[in-house]
Amino acid sequence: MHLFSYFWLLTSIWSCLAAVPPRTIAKRGNSSFVSSSKNGFSANGSSLRFIGTNLYWLPTLESNDDIWNVLKNISDTGMKVIRIWAFNDVETIPESGTWFQLVQNGTTVINDGPTGLQKLDTVVQMAEQHGLYVIMSLTNNWNPAPNTTSSGTASPNVLASVSLPRNTLSNDYGGMDLYVRQFGLQNHDDFYTNGKILTAFQNFTKQIVLRYVNSPAVFSWELANDARCNSTIPTSATCTTQTITKWHALMAAFIASLDTNHIVSAGTSGFQCTNCPKLYPVTPTASPTPSPAPGKKRRTVAPVTKEQIIKQRAESRRQNRAAAKRAGTLKEDGIMIRGRWVSTATREVSSSIGSTMDGSSGVDSQDILNIPNIGFGSFQVFPDQESYAPNDPNLDPVQNKINSSLTWIQQSAQSAAAVGKPVVLNGFGLVTQTNLNNFVPFNMTYTPYASTTAVMAVTATSNFANSTQQEQGYSSFLEMGNSAGLAGIMQYQWGSAGIVQSSAAIQLDTTNSPTPAAATGNSPNDGYSIANNAAIQQILKQAAQGIA
Ligand SMILES: *[C@@H]1O[C@H](CO)[C@@H](O)[C@H](O)[C@H]1NC(C)=O
Ligand SMILES: *[C@@H]1O[C@H](CO)[C@@H](O)[C@H](O)[C@H]1NC(C)=O
Ligand SMILES: *[C@@H]1O[C@H](CO)[C@@H](O)[C@H](O)[C@H]1NC(C)=O
Ligand SMILES: *[C@@H]1O[C@H](CO)[C@@H](O)[C@H](O)[C@H]1NC(C)=O
Ligand SMILES: *[C@@H]1O[C@H](CO)[C@@H](O)[C@H](O)[C@H]1NC(C)=O
Ligand SMILES: *[C@@H]1O[C@H](CO)[C@@H](O)[C@H](O)[C@H]1NC(C)=O
Ligand SMILES: *[C@@H]1O[C@H](CO)[C@@H](O)[C@H](O)[C@H]1NC(C)=O
Ligand SMILES: *[C@@H]1O[C@H](CO)[C@@H](O)[C@H](O)[C@H]1NC(C)=O
Ligand SMILES: *[C@@H]1O[C@H](CO)[C@@H](O)[C@H](O)[C@H]1NC(C)=O
Ligand SMILES: *[C@@H]1O[C@H](CO)[C@@H](O)[C@H](O)[C@H]1NC(C)=O
Repeated sequence: MHLFSYFWLLTSIWSCLAAVPPRTIAKRGNSSFVSSSKNGFSANGSSLRFIGTNLYWLPTLESNDDIWNVLKNISDTGMKVIRIWAFNDVETIPESGTWFQLVQNGTTVINDGPTGLQKLDTVVQMAEQHGLYVIMSLTNNWNPAPNTTSSGTASPNVLASVSLPRNTLSNDYGGMDLYVRQFGLQNHDDFYTNGKILTAFQNFTKQIVLRYVNSPAVFSWELANDARCNSTIPTSATCTTQTITKWHALMAAFIASLDTNHIVSAGTSGFQCTNCPKLYPVTPTASPTPSPAPGKKRRTVAPVTKEQIIKQRAESRRQNRAAAKRAGTLKEDGIMIRGRWVSTATREVSSSIGSTMDGSSGVDSQDILNIPNIGFGSFQVFPDQESYAPNDPNLDPVQNKINSSLTWIQQSAQSAAAVGKPVVLNGFGLVTQTNLNNFVPFNMTYTPYASTTAVMAVTATSNFANSTQQEQGYSSFLEMGNSAGLAGIMQYQWGSAGIVQSSAAIQLDTTNSPTPAAATGNSPNDGYSIANNAAIQQILKQAAQGIA
């Protein structure tokens, strides 16, 4: 029940502001297709709230039987939506394996053969046969090139680029930086503003969108995974939240002009900017929201403010401090002012609310969500890679990751409610102690914690979740997502065992006993795979059955 102790705070904030109009969500095609409104999603004649999962690697599987079996197992859990990469850009044509588009020296060529878009066709068709919808992501913020600048001793990036097969990592499918490199440009944000790149990306987008324009299995066109100003190549000094918002508006209008059947979604990690100037301001209006039920007060939701964040953090610290005091484990982190304890968080936060909320990443997810052609928003929960709040000294490292994620879920839900559109948690995960050797952050090409590369020393494995903490964390994310009213909640990432090994990204499974069947292996593991993790699969299954 402790999760719900947060709600007094939200409720008090939610009830106080003036009416906020819902922004346009373009009317979509007939009821065979997924549509979105301020009340959530509808599909196939009924409302749809879902649990889902991520598997960017699905179109790279060589065997169609494997694709079928993976989808069958997901469908058997009761999950309804999967999220995949509908892009696979290469700079030279690979000897083997799936690729969709060659981007080379300012020109592009689509591969629509059996190793190209026909693989995507298979995935979409089979998903439909299993009653699953597919979020089709169109590009990635992250595509670090292996470091080849080293002379003499190889850098860790070089080592890993040799040892990790293509398409193992989510950031090895091309993306924004690949376009920038092949169009002879230097800055990550050239992707959003350079006319030649925009034309090339729209050309790719058009071919994908028109290919599936009549497929009821497409849940949405997701413009990009985790778009930001920054990536692993530099960004120019001119990139701001408005650069990223404008790009989303341009691309959303472009897709809406091609396809009236499907929703366009943002795939941002949910970063906000409480104090940035807005291109699509959420403004009170004279035209009222639909009448509330008789006897109920009309409730509106205010956007997240800096003051709220400061208050919320201080309150959370006070509670944790009181609990620690009772348990006799108190760690002082505050100061006394006129006999009253004041947390240092309050003072820290007053000057800086952190990069997830201050716009420094160039992302204002609330402004993006309010773009008329955007049907729903997204955010992500990866507390091993992002800090959603300063650490509380009265919680251990894993509790800090989980607590800050729970607050982040509420804040993201509140921000979307203020706009009046659905929001989906499109990826959540905790890196476990068991998975640590496989963990590759989204901005890297190698396993920084593995003993072979060991560039980041693990100060203590207890900084990462053990299996019990992972189970508790996932359960609390799902519970909080459900009670905060998210329209969908997606785990990252699915894992399958027993996949035919010939697919490049599949590595022969030598870790499990008894010895696996010859020439089969596990799907890629970037630190978040739940292959062979029956407990987490069971938690997802229960959540899928409970959410409806
Ligand atoms: C790249 O394209 C330019 C023209 O756009 C051409 O002059 C140049 O030779 C090409 N480079 C390669 C390596 O193909
Ligand atoms: C658009 O894509 C097609 C198919 O890959 C390609 O032949 C054509 O050159 C592209 N056009 C532009 C302007 O990039
Ligand atoms: C849509 O509804 C029809 C009729 O009820 C059903 O047969 C079909 O499986 C449903 N499709 C999905 C994707 O749920
Ligand atoms: C690339 O590797 C070289 C040599 O190991 C190293 O000095 C350099 O900092 C690396 N660059 C990046 C961007 O990691
Ligand atoms: C709705 O779209 C589906 C898929 O394209 C199509 O099969 C169906 O005939 C359409 N129904 C109506 C009433 O237009
Ligand atoms: C983004 O990149 C710029 C320049 O490359 C750098 O100054 C800034 O600190 C980066 N911001 C974040 C949030 O990483
Ligand atoms: C923070 O996490 C701890 C342990 O998981 C929990 O007991 C506590 O209630 C959480 N605090 C808040 C404010 O949710
Ligand atoms: C990658 O991101 C992490 C934060 O998750 C940061 O600490 C690290 O410096 C970044 N590494 C590179 C190579 O950009
Ligand atoms: C996981 O870590 C917690 C907190 O340190 C500990 O209480 C628990 O016993 C551990 N569980 C396992 C299975 O190691
Ligand atoms: C599907 O689930 C079954 C039963 O748990 C398992 O034996 C099989 O390996 C799974 N297949 C895939 C492709 O994940």
